[in-house]
Amino acid sequence: MTDRYAVVGNPIAHSKSPQIHGLFAEKTGEDISYEALLAPRDDFAGTVRAFREAGGKGLNVTVPFKQEAWLMATVRSDAAERAGAVNTLCFLDNGLLRGDNTDGVGLLRDLTENHGVSLGDARVLVLGAGGAVRGVLQPLLAARPAEVVIANRTVDKALALAADFSDLGPVSGCGFEAIDAEGFDVIINGTSAGLAGEVPPIPDHALKAGGACYDMVYGDRPTAFVEWGRAHGAAQALDGLGMLVEQAAESFYLWRGVRPITAPVIAALRQG
Ligand code: ATR
Repeated sequence: MTDRYAVVGNPIAHSKSPQIHGLFAEKTGEDISYEALLAPRDDFAGTVRAFREAGGKGLNVTVPFKQEAWLMATVRSDAAERAGAVNTLCFLDNGLLRGDNTDGVGLLRDLTENHGVSLGDARVLVLGAGGAVRGVLQPLLAARPAEVVIANRTVDKALALAADFSDLGPVSGCGFEAIDAEGFDVIINGTSAGLAGEVPPIPDHALKAGGACYDMVYGDRPTAFVEWGRAHGAAQALDGLGMLVEQAAESFYLWRGVRPITAPVIAALRQG
């Protein structure tokens, strides 16, 4: 019998997840269906329950419900626990609701496996201190970089976030103007500035020669931060399309125990 999955959010019509998981199902031969579910802003829990009662096996969760999904989950992975947000729900046979967060794994796989960026011993600068950044810090620190510096417009948020994760590795917070001149091997943009076509005010000296830039968002055209990386001599200036596909692949693996090959799916999405 076909197993049902879905992505739930509000809005949801723009989501690429149905296309991605459709391609995964085709390529792995797994018998699943995957749809987009619009939940009312005030009834995420009801939407999840109804989907489960109708025989659903699992859900992806997107904006604005990731924190609510975290609260609803009865068991959480370490990454989800730390992220304070859940993007993957599994309906377990014993009635439990398992919550995972695959965003960080997705970012790391895209950076390290798809693009060969090495994080071990690297100096990493993360721009932004909101939910998107909190969601990836645990796996990022697990890759054992020399240091992670979180720079944010609102400095207090960067300091608080760094303090929350300081038991996992060398992480500190600062404002954009305080970014040091030693230079970073990798700069990851997790701000929402790009949505307005803007780049955070990063000093020109922030990127080491031959360093990599990664924007956690993507677009049909190069994002403003990808353009910044190109203009500042990045060896690689990457957008977040690969992260999107890799986080989906990790969800698929958690549900099905089968790991889909991602390269052809990333290529298909890139072609639009
Ligand atoms: P998300 O869930 O996408 O991370 P968020 O929690 O609202 O959304 O966080 C947005 C992040 O983008 C924050 O770090 C925000 O900076 P502030 O904490 O100072 O608000 C950052 N951001 C948004 N617009 C920005 C801009 N124009 N320049 C620099 N940073 C910006």
